[in-house]
Amino acid sequence: MTPAHSAPSRVDAPPSGALAGLNEQELGRRVGELFARPGFKIPVLPVTALEVMRLSRQADMGVEKLIEVLSQDSMLAADILKLARSPVYAGLSQAKTLKEAAVRLGNAGVHRIVLEAVQRSVFRAPGLVQALEAVRKHGSAVGHLARVVSKHASLDPDFGFLCGLLHEIGLSAGLMALAADKTPKLDLAGWFTLDRAHEEVAQVICHYWKLPPELGQVLAQHHAPPDSLSAANPMVSLLVVAEFLAEQDAAGLGHLLKKATGIDLPMEPADHRIDQARSMLRLDDRAWTRLYEDAATTMASLDAEA
Ligand SMILES: [Fe+2]
Ligand SMILES: [Fe+2]
Repeated sequence: MTPAHSAPSRVDAPPSGALAGLNEQELGRRVGELFARPGFKIPVLPVTALEVMRLSRQADMGVEKLIEVLSQDSMLAADILKLARSPVYAGLSQAKTLKEAAVRLGNAGVHRIVLEAVQRSVFRAPGLVQALEAVRKHGSAVGHLARVVSKHASLDPDFGFLCGLLHEIGLSAGLMALAADKTPKLDLAGWFTLDRAHEEVAQVICHYWKLPPELGQVLAQHHAPPDSLSAANPMVSLLVVAEFLAEQDAAGLGHLLKKATGIDLPMEPADHRIDQARSMLRLDDRAWTRLYEDAATTMASLDAEA
């Protein structure tokens, strides 16, 4: 992992005059327009995933019951086993069966891996596959990094992972909506439209998927300005740090999007919210150094997976 450097990342105001300065009403209209495209349906979570998520929240639920439910969906079960064997879920590379993987992951781990598998399969955007894959990779990297940051900041690592993994689902759903067009196309102006709507869209998806309202609130605020971080859920600061770390290792969204589609987001210096976020999470220099080392290990296993 290299020291901080300028990286392409989200910019607050698009360069196009036509798209600048959207008010709340206009934003709401665009979200509605996106979702009202003919042929577009809000993605649904597979029933099996919903059931697993419900069960894994019950502390006393044995892993056997989870396996029984998972086994009913062979595609999901295969995806889960494949993911469990990937380097980022270190230690599970020898797992040969779903049961072996599930026992070692535990309830919270199964919950985590189910969501990651679902995120891979639920969003489809024919014609915009590369952009969607860039968003997925970024979400996965930020999810795993958020889990690492949570441990250093004494926050719930499973909720941190969830926030990171899903923080850009508004973009995934937006790309899916664009892909419903006859000849889907994505350019810089189109990207900015998605970007301006994606926090609100994420909250809508969370609602549809019956995910915890707190998650929806975090996703809806993940681009909060620095002076709002102290009033926001601490998970927003956690996401700022995880995004920052992802950018240091080429898993920033701007970098991945450019590599996948050629769309070149305007460069801006590394996230100006990082100092505020670090102080919110009480990450002093010693903690920061240790965090950087752990983040580098996590990114290396993600790179090995790619
Ligand atoms: Fe975002
Ligand atoms: Fe992001």
